[in-house]
Amino acid sequence: MKILVVGNGGREHALCWKLAQSREVSEIFCAPGNGGTARENKTKNIDIGVGDFDALAKFASENKIDLIVIGPDNPLADGIVDHLERASHRVFGPNKEQAKLEWSKVHAKETMRRLSIPTADFEVFENKEKALAYAKQNELARVVKVDGLALGKGVMVCDTVEEVDQALSSIFDQKAFGDAGQKIIIEQKLIGEELSILCLCDGKTLKAMPACQDHKRRYDGDKGPNTGGMGAYTPVPLYDKYQKQIEEQVLAPISNALQDGRLSFKGVLFIGILIADDIPYVLEFNARFGDPETQAVLPRMKSDLALALLACTNQSLAHIDLQFDQGASLCVVAVGKDYPKSSSKGETITVSQLDSSTTVQLFHAGTSLKDDIVITNGGRVLGVTGLGKDLSEASKNAYKAIENVNFNQMEYRKDIGSRAMRSVAK
Ligand code: GLY
Repeated sequence: MKILVVGNGGREHALCWKLAQSREVSEIFCAPGNGGTARENKTKNIDIGVGDFDALAKFASENKIDLIVIGPDNPLADGIVDHLERASHRVFGPNKEQAKLEWSKVHAKETMRRLSIPTADFEVFENKEKALAYAKQNELARVVKVDGLALGKGVMVCDTVEEVDQALSSIFDQKAFGDAGQKIIIEQKLIGEELSILCLCDGKTLKAMPACQDHKRRYDGDKGPNTGGMGAYTPVPLYDKYQKQIEEQVLAPISNALQDGRLSFKGVLFIGILIADDIPYVLEFNARFGDPETQAVLPRMKSDLALALLACTNQSLAHIDLQFDQGASLCVVAVGKDYPKSSSKGETITVSQLDSSTTVQLFHAGTSLKDDIVITNGGRVLGVTGLGKDLSEASKNAYKAIENVNFNQMEYRKDIGSRAMRSVAK
């Protein structure tokens, strides 16, 4: 198989790395890729942006690509899959209507309600006055979400009505989110622990991968601004405790709806869950692999990813035996000092003595190659994934390895997975 991977983050590097392990795969192209995909086994970068659908379709035709794998959310929301399928290509990823589960939070919440999946109580609003009145009447309604895609910044978790008022002003008066903020949701604030499940879907069948968890806040102790994700780990100890409820109350309704046609979805359905009062509430759906969740989950995958993704495109996922190792993995993301305010650009990245055994894997994100030297080129620069028999060993391997990576003003969180490890130790 010849595969084209669309995207340039750590997620896409992890996808290329795992796809390259397949005996079925002869060549991988990554558009536009990064400094890591440029050097990955069987992989070449091609200089086409993720939004240039015509150029991607042309490249795929001229190079006889067998499977195109879409990484990021924006092209999915813009209909990349529809475009490439119209040009007769085989594509892993949801079409625009299916991806609405991610690009419209209102649609996602209405789908959860329609399928009787537990989710926080909510109302939808199109103006500030009614939204504010609702928040004033309902002391639990303190989460404001804009409907559209907002670079991970569209959810405002408030403590007081005054904070809700400020959030609503930024959306409706200052138009801080543009069209993405035309509609909003106000929902009940839930307090609890979160976890995520990435599920492969072929339109009819859903297969869940091991639960994982990312760390969105920039600084240790979950402090500071939200980011794309500063690290992730799998498995999640909390999942074991709630597995039965999650399977019965979340995964089964989605599977059943796929089976009987009440839901249509092909690609990866990323389900964000929050456990509160012993109930697994679904917070959100994403219509793609998570980043950095993918860098933690794929290194544990024993099955052939290329065959699994291909099966999602021809409705044969039921015949794929998805296998993961019994151990743990933990990914630590390195960023520039000023991330998420600004990106790191042009700093030379050095990597010394990285253990090339099976216990560590380096995934590039915001990097590029200049005269064969790897330099920084983005907010989240790279991730180091450690593997081990448990989270504590995976963490030791990741943190030991990241000490061998360096660029000017590099920073990373020192506490990825630590709460989960403490809960195991209790
Ligand atoms: N790490 C969260 C996301 O991929 O959206």
